Amino acid sequence: MSDRGQAEGEPRLRIERLHAGYGRAEILHGVTLSLDVGQSLCLVGPNGAGKSTVLNAIFGLADVREGSIRVDGRALETRSHPSLRMEGFGIAYVLQETSVFPDLSVEQNLRLGAYRLRDAAQVNERVEHVFATHPRLAERRRSQARVLSGGERRILEIARALMMKPRLLLIDEPSIGLEPRAVVEVFEMLRSRQHSEGLSVLLVEQNVRQGLRFADVGCVLVGGRVAISAPAQDLLGDGSIADLFLNR
Ligand SMILES: Nc1ncnc2c1ncn2[C@@H]1O[C@H](COP(=O)(O)OP(=O)(O)OP(=O)(O)O)[C@@H](O)[C@H]1O
Ligand SMILES: [Mg+2]
Repeated sequence: MSDRGQAEGEPRLRIERLHAGYGRAEILHGVTLSLDVGQSLCLVGPNGAGKSTVLNAIFGLADVREGSIRVDGRALETRSHPSLRMEGFGIAYVLQETSVFPDLSVEQNLRLGAYRLRDAAQVNERVEHVFATHPRLAERRRSQARVLSGGERRILEIARALMMKPRLLLIDEPSIGLEPRAVVEVFEMLRSRQHSEGLSVLLVEQNVRQGLRFADVGCVLVGGRVAISAPAQDLLGDGSIADLFLNR
């Protein structure tokens, strides 16, 4: 194992023949995908296809019935509590729904992301780094998070998820509600972590073009099955695929 936690030759994430859902309802019917260290994979597909369920299954918020999920070569204990995902496997999750605590300040929200980090100096350093790179958050650091715009809230959520320096970031609709400039800010934030820390990103994007332009690999999910998996560039360039699956 290296200091980034990866086992030699193993992808960051390998999902094989995954069947998962909620209670008796099976939503994913044999999903297989893999993601390398420092790589990004964008899941696209129609509403209800099961995109969020893939992320939920990895994070322990959906029931896994069959198949396997491995992170850096180690099998995820799918029945373990979601809170163990960060500690044990370095996985962070930015949900589709907003998860900012409106009554806490912007800074308090951010610090919550590092609550497992014991070294106060290190926490302060990471907090200051976020404020140095996101001036609009810095201006409101002592205000209640409820005063943030939707876009600022999204950036705060993502910055909070990155506080523990995860190895794998699951992120559902990062660009939702964001103006074009903020979308660029979010994707730049992710890309810089990919390069500097080998962060791997599994994202879901409603804005298909945007997601595929950012990601290395694109995966089209339809009815709980992977219909196509290919380099994102190829998917973007293939008009017939876009017409069939991407609701253009
Ligand atoms: N917590 C839950 N309990 C029961 N069923 C759920 C739950 N979450 C999602 N589902 C069901 O699972 C199916 C797939 O939902 P999922 O959220 O994974 O789709 P999605 O591809 O992310 O869609 P969208 O693009 O609308 O976000 C849907 O039929 C949905 O009703
Ligand atoms: Mg979803």
